[in-house]
Amino acid sequence: MTKQPSDKLMSYTPVALQMYDVLAEDMERVRELFGQELQSNLPLVNERIEQVGKFRGKMLRPCLVLLCGRACGPVGHSHHIVAAAVEMIHMAALIHDDVLDESQVRRRGATLNELYGNETAILAGDFLLSHTFSLCSQLRSQRLCSIIASTTNMVCEGEIMQVAHKEDWELREEKYLEIISRKTASLCGTCCRLGVECSAESAELARVMDDYGCALGMAFQITDDLLDLLGSEPVVGKTLSRDFLQGKLTLPLIRARDRLSGAGRKELMELISGTCPEDLDRLRNVLSDCGSIDSVEKTAQDYIERAVEKLTVLPAGTEREALEKIARFVVERHT
Ligand code: IPE
Ligand code: IPE
Ligand code: MG
Ligand code: MG
Repeated sequence: MTKQPSDKLMSYTPVALQMYDVLAEDMERVRELFGQELQSNLPLVNERIEQVGKFRGKMLRPCLVLLCGRACGPVGHSHHIVAAAVEMIHMAALIHDDVLDESQVRRRGATLNELYGNETAILAGDFLLSHTFSLCSQLRSQRLCSIIASTTNMVCEGEIMQVAHKEDWELREEKYLEIISRKTASLCGTCCRLGVECSAESAELARVMDDYGCALGMAFQITDDLLDLLGSEPVVGKTLSRDFLQGKLTLPLIRARDRLSGAGRKELMELISGTCPEDLDRLRNVLSDCGSIDSVEKTAQDYIERAVEKLTVLPAGTEREALEKIARFVVERHT
């Protein structure tokens, strides 16, 4: 019989939910570690940080660590620490990102910036990052710590690049791909690499699974950028249209700009640079009519095919199937 999630927040975690039977116990350890690590002896800090744990996301990154680990050998304490650490880095990035994006909703709940203001949100993100250091200090391997650190640097570099290219209406596709490769794909690749490295001593396996995670991460962010323009806020569970309203060019806009010419391009550029919420419906029509949406969906799907091809290095079994399912989910998801 399929086990039921112990906690109703899990109903919002489709990725973890699909893998629940396989990962239930490990995920429980990860959640415990995560909660314990963030405990403070200051009630005021606990009150604000509790808000962070209340609304759970898809737990995609811990899932990747645990599944890649299980696919290559036994899973133990180091996997749990790594899985909690990557989720913490991810959440710190989201908390800071919500300040930058002025978002009110995340994971179907109010953002920290909405509840307590930007100052608290920035400091809470820092608090999560500093606790990631503490968690990592429990790892016996300096190599694992150094991979986590350099990936965190890359995520921050990606976010800095993105901000630097705000209102850059000429942003090239290659630059966009570099930004998302740093801010999103690098962490997904690292989750897979670390899962493998905690289980097995195969540099080749770790490299190929890192490639799987990076390709999946690229498709993940491209899909997220499509959802930002086309998704429904109650379904996605976070504030949408931020990229467009903040002057961040994402792939659907870049492709449309490069496909159109003459009056069509002029209209698109006016819509994009106007960053006006009332223009969103018109913008959606333009993107759809010029074929940009289809072409972006195809690109995301191509990354997923590339990711799935990598899985042939793993032995056939539940974990490999789950990793393929996750890859397919990434582009089919509405949340
Ligand atoms: C959102 O990531 C931020 C991006 C990298 C696009 P997720 O969609 O994995 O967020 P949660 O963890 O499920 O909330
Ligand atoms: C930023 O990407 C996510 C990070 C890698 C920090 P987005 O800005 O697209 O994330 P959402 O849409 O706010 O979740
Ligand atoms: Mg954002
Ligand atoms: Mg987004």
